[in-house]
Amino acid sequence: MSRSFPSFLVVPATWLLAASVAGGALWAGCACGKRAELRHGAELYAIHCADCHGARLEGQPDWQLPGADGTLPAPPHDDSGHTWHHDDAMLADYIRRGGQSVLDDMGVPMTSGMPAFGEILTKDDIAAILTFIKSNWPDDIRAIQAKRNGG
Ligand code: HEC
Repeated sequence: MSRSFPSFLVVPATWLLAASVAGGALWAGCACGKRAELRHGAELYAIHCADCHGARLEGQPDWQLPGADGTLPAPPHDDSGHTWHHDDAMLADYIRRGGQSVLDDMGVPMTSGMPAFGEILTKDDIAAILTFIKSNWPDDIRAIQAKRNGG
């Protein structure tokens, strides 16, 4: 019989250490994941959306007035626009399928200048862009929009 430290005491201590290290990594991973998603969303927004919706989400000038061709300019995505009036599912659908398909389905007789991004952006890309857009809203607006998602 060995007189070294009893292994039944050593093993659980190791497990505890491993569990706390893993737990810490998981927790840090969560925070990192959120930050990474936000950064990814900001990058994608700058590449794909900023030309029309504005680098600071400010939209096009006089966005509430139809242009000469009768189409509406791109609205802002900050809290001065109406992006936050819609739930996540509707916003993601609008971005994926483009404005025209969605308006046609709803029977709205309007020509949309909002392109479809379903071929270019994944579901996660679109979610990251929405996370970035929402990060620019004040808390109360974010809370109102979250309620529309049933949250
Ligand atoms: C070529 C210009 C253009 C680009 C690029 C563009 N949009 Fe749009 N977008 C528009 C226009 C114009 C509208 C308003 C017409 C409409 O609602 O169909 C619009 C409307 C929207 C709406 C509906 C807003 C609301 O409140 O009803 C969302 C959401 C949206 N865009 C998101 C995006 C995102 C995200 C990107 C980048 C991935 C993007 N758009 C890129 C022109 C553009």
